[in-house]
Amino acid sequence: MNDTDTPDFRENEITMTAWTTRSETAADIPAIREILLAAFPTALEADLVDALRADPKAWIDGLSMVSIDPDGAPAGYALITRCHVDGEPALALAPCAVPPSVQRTGAGSAAIRSALDAARAMGENLVLVLGHADYYPRFGFTPASRFGIRAPFDVPDEAMMAMALDGTRPVPTGTIEYPAAFGV
Ligand SMILES: CC(C)(COP(=O)(O)OP(=O)(O)OC[C@H]1O[C@@H](n2cnc3c(N)ncnc32)[C@H](O)[C@@H]1OP(=O)(O)O)[C@@H](O)C(=O)NCCC(=O)NCCS
Repeated sequence: MNDTDTPDFRENEITMTAWTTRSETAADIPAIREILLAAFPTALEADLVDALRADPKAWIDGLSMVSIDPDGAPAGYALITRCHVDGEPALALAPCAVPPSVQRTGAGSAAIRSALDAARAMGENLVLVLGHADYYPRFGFTPASRFGIRAPFDVPDEAMMAMALDGTRPVPTGTIEYPAAFGV
């Protein structure tokens, strides 16, 4: 178990909350699906996670992270899976999800930081994320184009982001190859 360092203010409460995080267990799978269904307008992301979990080429045990509420229930979710850049192994951070009622209380950031820390501890380096350009830079992501990395589809430059977990190591350049479950 990892305790996050960053306490966050929970709206309408006067206490500070430090989210506890851990990698998923089999018992968390239904709750993770519920989080994804609540956070996104369709079941696309929930189905994507189930498909990734079933793909041994994409799934990496220990990189599916939940933040846990005070009752011990999963409240936030972040997944990192295997992708490639020009044939070289890299990681994709997707999806990240928190139910609307819990959003902006730090549950998402805690799960993301925990997933990135676990990947770093495994000796992984390059992580890619497609998402909000005003959210992911706080974790160290910058436009992937600065690394010479591009998405395999048209996307605004600032939305396709990359980060080296160990800035002293080289990263591959080229086009991202996502696991088949992404359907791109
Ligand atoms: C995006 C998401 C995972 C963030 O998790 P969270 O627990 O709500 O976020 P945190 O509390 O950790 O962080 C709060 C910060 O994130 C920002 N943030 C939250 N959602 C955001 C969004 N959709 N776009 C931009 N910034 C966002 C908040 O403005 C806040 O910024 P501040 O710290 O400068 O005030 C969550 O809001 C969510 O599930 N959203 C719907 C699904 C989604 O869009 N997932 C991401 C796909 S790329």
